[in-house]
Amino acid sequence: MRASHLFILLSCLALFVCCKQHGKVTAPQVDQDNSQALMASMEDRIGFPDFGFMVQPDDTIPISRVFKLSDDFPRKEPVIDEGVKNILAIDFKSDWRAYMDEVKKYVFEGNASEDYENSFYLEDNKVRPWYHVPWQHWGPNGREGYHGLTQEGPVDDKMLAPTQISETHAYAVGFYNDLGGYAIGKVWNKPEPNYSFFEFDGFPEGTVVAKVLFVPLEADEVPYLKNPVSWDAYIYASDIPGNNSTSKNRITSKVNLIQMDIMVKDKRAIDTGGWVFGTFAYNGNLENDNRWDNLTPVGIMWGNDPDHNKTSYNPTPTKTIINPDLKQTIINDNPEELPPMHLGFASRLNGPVDNAYSSCMSCHSTAQYPVVSAIMPFLNNQKVAIPEAGTNASAQWMRWFRNVPCETPFDPKKATSFDYSLQLVKSIQNYIDYASQAEKGHYSEEYWSKGHKIRRSSIVSD
Ligand code: HEC
Repeated sequence: MRASHLFILLSCLALFVCCKQHGKVTAPQVDQDNSQALMASMEDRIGFPDFGFMVQPDDTIPISRVFKLSDDFPRKEPVIDEGVKNILAIDFKSDWRAYMDEVKKYVFEGNASEDYENSFYLEDNKVRPWYHVPWQHWGPNGREGYHGLTQEGPVDDKMLAPTQISETHAYAVGFYNDLGGYAIGKVWNKPEPNYSFFEFDGFPEGTVVAKVLFVPLEADEVPYLKNPVSWDAYIYASDIPGNNSTSKNRITSKVNLIQMDIMVKDKRAIDTGGWVFGTFAYNGNLENDNRWDNLTPVGIMWGNDPDHNKTSYNPTPTKTIINPDLKQTIINDNPEELPPMHLGFASRLNGPVDNAYSSCMSCHSTAQYPVVSAIMPFLNNQKVAIPEAGTNASAQWMRWFRNVPCETPFDPKKATSFDYSLQLVKSIQNYIDYASQAEKGHYSEEYWSKGHKIRRSSIVSD
């Protein structure tokens, strides 16, 4: 029922937009064959909206294309392709750098060209299919319509460089390879919704996920953002430097590439969580011809070093502080290549726009539905304060730095694990949010998530 309503609505909307683009609005004059073809093609990719925010099509800004969700998920489990085999042939512990380079190559193939604005439109990829997680359009930080970017966590001043005075937010889009797409499709079935929110058996070995992150900042504040990879984006006016607007308006603005995150389901990491996480930071000073190559690896992690509870942070970095006691994080030690990074809790891996009190695997280990515990200890209902530098963190704090095995919930018996995928959790949370508004009632599962919105958040809880 719901899907067919959505379908009718989308069809009307599409016809309306078509007519509107050609000038004045008239009754749709579509010949029978064409309208059937349009209906068939929409029915084929039924259901999920592409984005939540976009300029009106009749605005004066010339729009060449808009974001399309890639949601035609494989129905049979795909076999591991050559590209993934090449990644899995490298030992991420003994040669982390080669592993990261291989993942980057895999993600870039068919996606990252010198036509920067037209890169990462997944439907253009001739090498291999990639997929998006549906239901990221919903809510105030939902996808915009140029590139499908969602609003991410806050970027505090001096977080990226000592000369950074503006505070803003990052904007990002993530995508999964075919093995990942297959698992997403088990949660988000098509064409008739028969959603499986409470039985998820995890991602297959060889799943590769990547996410590119952008900020509306430039080289005047963040010097390594020179020679930028720029995208148009429809973002909050209040996120634009120098704009003191508190209004909730969105406008079209340039955003610049700052970071790329990757995750690989790799069974050699099975004892520490089953995933390898890595991140790259943009460094325009490297002046590569294809600017995507200016993404330089920050490091890699395959576990949270649960026994290391000594507390240190570096939230406003002037140099990258590497912690030699960590056994499950490796950081790039070449300052010629890597601008100063804040990293995460006690120098565990985190990217330039990530929270300096957390780590990749700390946040992602909480991927479960319902969201019983928050993504970070200081956002939890039973709040755990940030431990003081130099002290040993409490057991409550270290609950967020366990090595939660893959496909295992963070809060056992209370939730279903979504195997480190926070987008999948967010998609379910958004859908339930939508459904409870539409149905004018609440779901019991929702109760446990109250106050825990899956999104990166500032220290002052929003
Ligand atoms: C403060 C919490 C937090 C930290 C730290 C964090 N992430 Fe995430 N990440 C999220 C959330 C929330 C999402 C999903 C929603 C979104 O895209 O904002 C996400 C999404 C992703 C995705 C897309 C797939 C998915 O799981 O949904 C990738 C890949 C990813 N993160 C990798 C990383 C890597 C690599 C790091 C460390 C360099 C990292 N993340 C650090 C919270 C975090």
